Amino acid sequence: MKKLLISTGGGDCPGLNAVIRGIFKRAQKEDGWEVYGSMEALSGVRRDPPEIIKLDNATTAGIHVRGGTILKTTNKGNPLQFPVKDEKGNITFTDITQQLADKISEMGFDAVINIGGDGSQKISQALFEKGVPVIGVPKTIDNDLSATDMTFGFQTAVQIATDSFDKLVTTAESHHRVMIMEVMGRDAGWIALHTAIAGGAEICLIPEIPYDVGKVFQRITERYKNGRGFVNIVIAEGARAKDGTVVSAPGEEGSEHVRLGGVAYELSRQLKAAGCEAEIRETVLGHVQRGGTPIAFDRLLATMFGVKAFELVLAGSFGKMVSFQNNDFIAVDLVEATTSYNLVNKESFLVKGAKGLGISFGD
Ligand code: F6P
Repeated sequence: MKKLLISTGGGDCPGLNAVIRGIFKRAQKEDGWEVYGSMEALSGVRRDPPEIIKLDNATTAGIHVRGGTILKTTNKGNPLQFPVKDEKGNITFTDITQQLADKISEMGFDAVINIGGDGSQKISQALFEKGVPVIGVPKTIDNDLSATDMTFGFQTAVQIATDSFDKLVTTAESHHRVMIMEVMGRDAGWIALHTAIAGGAEICLIPEIPYDVGKVFQRITERYKNGRGFVNIVIAEGARAKDGTVVSAPGEEGSEHVRLGGVAYELSRQLKAAGCEAEIRETVLGHVQRGGTPIAFDRLLATMFGVKAFELVLAGSFGKMVSFQNNDFIAVDLVEATTSYNLVNKESFLVKGAKGLGISFGD
């Protein structure tokens, strides 16, 4: 029997279970494959005893409609920068990918499918360079991975954000208020941009276009007559004013990222300081954007990524990431997928077209 190991790493995202089921179902069509899952990303391999589960029909049936991941996940303990605490409590970061690669080989795995975002795919590449036969599957609601037109989870996040936006529009209108809705996305403005266009926002603020508070205030003023009017703003968590900084807090111990969040309140303060007299309310959507069932498109994307990933395993075509490009499922080199981020281009039609609709980016 050949042994395949699946891992889900980084923040969770709707569609992870659909990938797992897609891989398992496709593997069942071939003779001689056993499919295993490592719990909490590749931490399951490192632990003593290892936390590895064997996947079967019972564990994978119907999971494509469920959010989260049956394998659990973590964004701590990155093997490329593994946190080690000394007796004094000081933390240093060290690369333990060689030990991890050795462990995977000792455990007899013939292939690994690593489902995750940019950080996870950098780990995939490092393991591949150390001889692990690995395939990456791109996941993130942020849609910031290059070498694929889209990551699964993104469209579900946009749908959730748009549904919330629609609700904020009716209450903004009733009260003549400015509603600021903050969405996720880290350094990429994709969720904000898609939501602003789909929802019909007046203002969309994204990390790629630092905003001028005066311009934002001006757009608000245009919408009010004698104190009456309303404005709906979508702001990405990584957005910042031209002369300001990103609003963040330190990440938890062992986490590789700072925590973004709260820029909606910062913008509210900036607008009041600029003289905005309209009532302002802030909504930070947070993790609801990552929860619940994936929409149909993300289920399809995730399921087909799973099937494609297993077919690359069968073909022995390792060191690749599955990718969705021009309506097709292809394989790209992991190196290509991890060398740059996919950020919103301010010269793109999506931004120019949004401006053509009257959406202000505060620039
Ligand atoms: O990368 C996905 C994401 O949801 C980002 O949009 C967000 O900044 C971050 O993860 C939140 O991470 P955590 O779940 O650790 O709070």
